[in-house]
Amino acid sequence: MDKEDKELLIESYNDRFKKYGHSNDTLGWTKGKHELRYHILLTQWNLENKSVLDFGCGFGDMYNYAKNLGLKIEYYGVDLNKELILEGKKDYPDANLEFRDALESGLSRKYDYILSSGVHNFKIKDNWSFIEKTFELYNEYSLKGFALNFLSNRVDYTLEDTYHSDPVKIVELAYKYSNKIVLRNDYMPFEFTLFVDKQKEFDKDSVVYPEFSKYVTEN
Ligand SMILES: C[S@@+](CC[C@H](N)C(=O)[O-])C[C@H]1O[C@@H](n2cnc3c(N)ncnc32)[C@H](O)[C@@H]1O
Repeated sequence: MDKEDKELLIESYNDRFKKYGHSNDTLGWTKGKHELRYHILLTQWNLENKSVLDFGCGFGDMYNYAKNLGLKIEYYGVDLNKELILEGKKDYPDANLEFRDALESGLSRKYDYILSSGVHNFKIKDNWSFIEKTFELYNEYSLKGFALNFLSNRVDYTLEDTYHSDPVKIVELAYKYSNKIVLRNDYMPFEFTLFVDKQKEFDKDSVVYPEFSKYVTEN
């Protein structure tokens, strides 16, 4: 993302924030589906007591969702929009929210998991290189895995300023990092979530990941 894209992005959220305050309208989330997106991201893996970075966290609403779900995670949020982070800090004083442009300066530590919702939905000059860079960053700073969601290009209708990703291209990219991947397109028709599991050690005899070895019978 170049300087111009970054400024436009920050400005558009700031404009909406002035108008709507801490709300879904500010984040561009319509139809109340943001919680379903969090739910999908938070329930694929056992995140209990794990450190989880919410990349592009906005106000940090995923923290609140996890808390209401009764999920005990060590939550961290990072976003390049200072206004949203400052508001989030007021509303969720227990969440570890940080204003930072991580693609510029990296992150300050590693996390068990990195999750991110809605970060790739807006159109910029070069979305593909932005996607590749975020995958690199998530891989570098996650220990066990990372997951993110996208708007799909398998649609018959797109908005002017939204970016729709090709799920097949995204899967190709994911295989660069692990063979242990999941693509979920079963919860909404036009959006999908990709999970890249980095715990890819497997039993060399059965050629099965350990959590599935109980289903393998002796010959
Ligand atoms: C649609 S909002 C979603 C916010 C939050 N993930 C949620 O679901 O409530 C997208 C967020 O991604 C953030 N974002 C976009 N590019 C980013 C980047 N390179 N680094 C950090 N945050 C970014 C935006 O500032 C914005 O807060």
